[in-house]
Amino acid sequence: MPRILQLPTSVITKIAAGEVIERPASVVKELLENSLDAGATRIDIDIEQGGSELIRVVDNGHGIDPDDLRLAFANHATSKLETADDLFAVRTMGFRGEALSSIGGVAQVTLQSRSQESGVRGQEAGVNALTPDPCLLTPGSLGAEIACNGGDLSGPRIWNGSPGTRIEVRHLFFNTPVRRKFLKTASTEMGHICEIFTRIALAKPGLHLTLQHNGKKVYEVSASDDLLARIGTFFGKEVRDQLYAIDKQQGPAHLFGYVADPACDRGNTKAQYLFLNGRWIRDRSLGHALQEGYRGLLMTGRYAVAFLFLELPPDQVDVNVHPTKSEVRFRDSGALYSFVLATVRNRLNEENLTSRLQPPSSPNGSQTYFSPRPTEYTPSLFAKPGFPTFTKNPEIRSQESGVSGQESEEEIPASPGMSAAIPGGEPEAPPVLQEVLNAIQVHNTYLVVETSDGMLVIDQHALHERVLYEEIKERVRQGALDVQPILIPEPVELAAEQAAILLEHRQALDALGLGVEDFGGNTVIVTRYPALLGRRHPAEILKRVTDHLMNKERVPTREQLLSDLMSLMACHAAVRSGDALTNEEIAALVEMRHLSNDTHHCPHGRPTALLFTRQELDRQFRRI
Ligand SMILES: Nc1ncnc2c1ncn2[C@@H]1O[C@H](COP(=O)(O)OP(=O)(O)OP(=O)(O)O)[C@@H](O)[C@H]1O
Ligand SMILES: [Mg+2]
Repeated sequence: MPRILQLPTSVITKIAAGEVIERPASVVKELLENSLDAGATRIDIDIEQGGSELIRVVDNGHGIDPDDLRLAFANHATSKLETADDLFAVRTMGFRGEALSSIGGVAQVTLQSRSQESGVRGQEAGVNALTPDPCLLTPGSLGAEIACNGGDLSGPRIWNGSPGTRIEVRHLFFNTPVRRKFLKTASTEMGHICEIFTRIALAKPGLHLTLQHNGKKVYEVSASDDLLARIGTFFGKEVRDQLYAIDKQQGPAHLFGYVADPACDRGNTKAQYLFLNGRWIRDRSLGHALQEGYRGLLMTGRYAVAFLFLELPPDQVDVNVHPTKSEVRFRDSGALYSFVLATVRNRLNEENLTSRLQPPSSPNGSQTYFSPRPTEYTPSLFAKPGFPTFTKNPEIRSQESGVSGQESEEEIPASPGMSAAIPGGEPEAPPVLQEVLNAIQVHNTYLVVETSDGMLVIDQHALHERVLYEEIKERVRQGALDVQPILIPEPVELAAEQAAILLEHRQALDALGLGVEDFGGNTVIVTRYPALLGRRHPAEILKRVTDHLMNKERVPTREQLLSDLMSLMACHAAVRSGDALTNEEIAALVEMRHLSNDTHHCPHGRPTALLFTRQELDRQFRRI
C-alpha cells in the first residue's frame, strides 16, 4: 500500500508555479502587475527568445525595502493584504503573494530594487547611481539585490541602481525540462507576451510602456497616448476609425469604452476586451451579453470587436476565484448582463446599422469582409479555367464600383489572379448556355431550376463552395493550383499573435499558394495567392485564415490544416447569399453542379440543393 508523504517545499513550489506560470507571457503578466501595484508610471520590458532566455522588467515604482527582499520570494507573502476581509476590498492587481515565489521556483531570477525615498536620501548625501563604493553606505539607505535560483535564495546585497525595481528572469523552466520542452516557438511565445502587453496598455492609459524583443523595439506607448490612440497602435487604423464610444452608469456600475462597427467583425472573440476595475478578465456571461448586443448585425460565426471597461465597487465582485485572476465572480451577474446588453444594443441602434446586413451594393457602403471594396471591380468568379468568363450585369457593376456611365460599358478586368490562371492566355468567348436558362434566382440566394423530373432549389453559396472545394482539392493534389504573384505586395498589419501564428504555418499556406512573408513588426506581406481567390482581397483572406488558425484549440495536423484551409478558401471565394447573379452566371453555376464528386453538401455539411419531384408537387397540389 502506498504511504503518504509530506512533499518537500521545492516540489510544492513547482506544483504551485504550474498554476500561475504557464509560459513566458504569464511571467510578464505577473511582473507588470507588480510594477503597476508599485505605482510605476513607466515600465520597460526586454525579452529575449520569446522569453525563454530572458524577461527583464524595469519600473520606476516605489521599490521594495531591502529587509523585505527575501520575503518577496516567499510563498503567501504580500504587502497587499492583511486580513481575510481585505479580500473583498481588493484594489491592487496582486494579493495572493505567490507570483514571485512561483517564478523564482522555476527560473533564475535577479531582483534589484531601490525605494524612491532612498533615491532622495542618496542624492542628499551626495551620492548617485555611479557612486564608486556603495559599501561605504549604510545598508538600507540605498537599494539591494537578491537572486533566486530555482527557489534557492542568495543575498540580499547592496545595489546602487536607480529608484524602482528591476527584475531579470532567465532560463524559465530550466529545472522543469518537460515544461520547457512544451514552450512554442519564440515568435508564438512573443505573440502571447504582446497580448499581455496589449491588455495592460489598454487598461492603463497614462502609463509609459515599452516592449523590446531581441533588442528590437516592438511597441512603445507613451503616457499621453489615450485609449483610442492605443487601440490604433495595437489594432490598426481600420478598427480605431470604426468605433462607437459608450459611457453608461447604472447604480454602482459604470461601463465605458468602445464597441466597433459590425464591419470590423472577427472569426473569434479575441478582440473582445473586457476590463474589470482595470484588470483584464474573461467572462462568458458578459461576453455573451456583448454578442447579443450585436444580434442581427453579424453573420453566424463572426464576433464583434469591443473594448469594454467595467468599474464596480470592490465589494461587488470576488476576484479570488482563479489562480491567474482572469476570472471573477460577480455579486449580481444577472443585472450586469442586462446592463451590458442594453448599453451595447442601444448604442448600436443609434447608428442605424441594420442596412449593413444587406448585400454590398451601396456606393458609399463601408468596406467589410463580405463586401468588395467600393472602388474596386469585382471580376466574375466564373472567370476561371475550364469555365466561360462573363462580364457582370452592368447595373450591378456600376453600383459596386461606385461609378456609373462609361465604366459600366467596359469589360470588368480580370483580377490579377485571373488572367494568369487561364492557360494559354486569352479567355475563351462565352459559350451559349441556353439549355439551362430555365433557372431563376430568388432572393439573391437560391436558384430554382427546372429538371426533367421536378424542380431543384439550389443554395447558390453552398453549391459554389462545394464545387470550388473540389477544384481546389484536385489542384492541390496535382500540385497545379494556379498561383498569382503579387508584384507590389501590400503589407497587412495584424495583431502580434496573429502575425506569429500565420508565420508559423507559412509552409502549409505555401502549399495552398498563399505566400506570406514577415515584413517586420506585426506586419506581413502577401507575395502570392491562389488565383481562385481573385474575387476577395488577399488581405481579407489573410485575416480570415488567421482568425481560423487562432480558433483552433489544438495545433492542427498538416492534413487537417490543408483541408480546413481549402474549405475556408472555397467558402470565401464562393458567391455569397445576397449576391445578385446574371443569367449567365446562374447558368454556369447550375452547370457546374455535375462537375463535382459530391455536390449534395457544402464542405460544412449543409445541403447544397433540395429536390422537389414532379410527383411530390402534383401530390401537394392535389393533382394526383
Ligand atoms: N515591482 C515591484 N515593486 C515593488 N514591490 C514589488 C514589486 N514586485 C513585487 N513586489 C513586492 O513583492 C511582494 C510579492 O510579490 P508577488 O507578486 O509574489 O505577490 P503579490 O503581488 O502580493 O500577489 P500575487 O501573487 O497575487 O501577484 C508584493 O506584495 C510586493 O510587496
Ligand atoms: Mg504580484
